[in-house]
Amino acid sequence: MLGEFVSPAQYASLLQRGRHATERWLPFDTAQLQADYNRRPFVVEHRLQQHALFDIAPLFELARRVPARQVKFRRGDIAPDADFDASFNLPQGALTLDHLLRHFEALHGYVCINNPELDAQYRPVIEALLAEIAAHIHPLDPHITWYSTYVFISAQGAVTPYHMDREMNFLLQIRGEKTADLWDQGDPRIMSPAQKDRLLAYEGTRPPYQPSFEERAMHFTLRPGLGVHHPFIAPHRVWTHSNLSVSLAFTFRTRQSDRLTAAHQFNARLRRLGLQNPKPVGESPWVDSAKAQALHALQHLRHPLQRA
Ligand SMILES: [Fe+2]
Repeated sequence: MLGEFVSPAQYASLLQRGRHATERWLPFDTAQLQADYNRRPFVVEHRLQQHALFDIAPLFELARRVPARQVKFRRGDIAPDADFDASFNLPQGALTLDHLLRHFEALHGYVCINNPELDAQYRPVIEALLAEIAAHIHPLDPHITWYSTYVFISAQGAVTPYHMDREMNFLLQIRGEKTADLWDQGDPRIMSPAQKDRLLAYEGTRPPYQPSFEERAMHFTLRPGLGVHHPFIAPHRVWTHSNLSVSLAFTFRTRQSDRLTAAHQFNARLRRLGLQNPKPVGESPWVDSAKAQALHALQHLRHPLQRA
């Protein structure tokens, strides 16, 4: 799995750092966070467009510098309902990263740099952002347990097809404009309880897009200095406008989202055993916690047996 786990000791130190930061990149609105964090998507403000490391030239250098496995690239002009995971495996011909970066706009380029925090130049700013996010969300959702970041660079007309991730996200727009469409993760017409259980259990493909979802989309137009919060597993689709776009996705998990993940995985096990309608995750925090504990107990039980 991409990303890094955050130990309780690291989290405590990040929290202190975020609370006492003198240079703030994420001036989030506390009242908005309190009202909407992890419930519904909302726009946030940031200042990353003022940071030199997020100019195009240093980002292209980063794409060339990091190990090849950390960079995904393709032409950006694909169908908005294309399968997200398969979209990087489309026939690329002789397309190389170097060729794409040299002719980026003509080829409608799309580059995703995974985990810039692994790069010595970028790690300090990514850790500063992580510390600020920890300080912002601690009163609502304490203890970040894992994080992973991604830089998206796309030419005009690039599409990130409909999909959902297994975490929360702050998608921060740094250059150019984008429209992010999000859907309510709690709406059973968008994702059924069974689909969510299987998503978190990594069973099969992600819940697919349907044309009927269109009228329920929430549209957010992002420009430099704005971002949008994605609640846990909220489906989304992103469109680049007619200019070069740079954005940073800051994805993270917390003790609470880990608990929800484990409860979904427990439900997926019950479904495999033939129980068709386990209580949907999210209806009762008490039941979700009990399921998460039961899953961990089962995993601990299985591991000694496997060793034996
Ligand atoms: Fe995503």
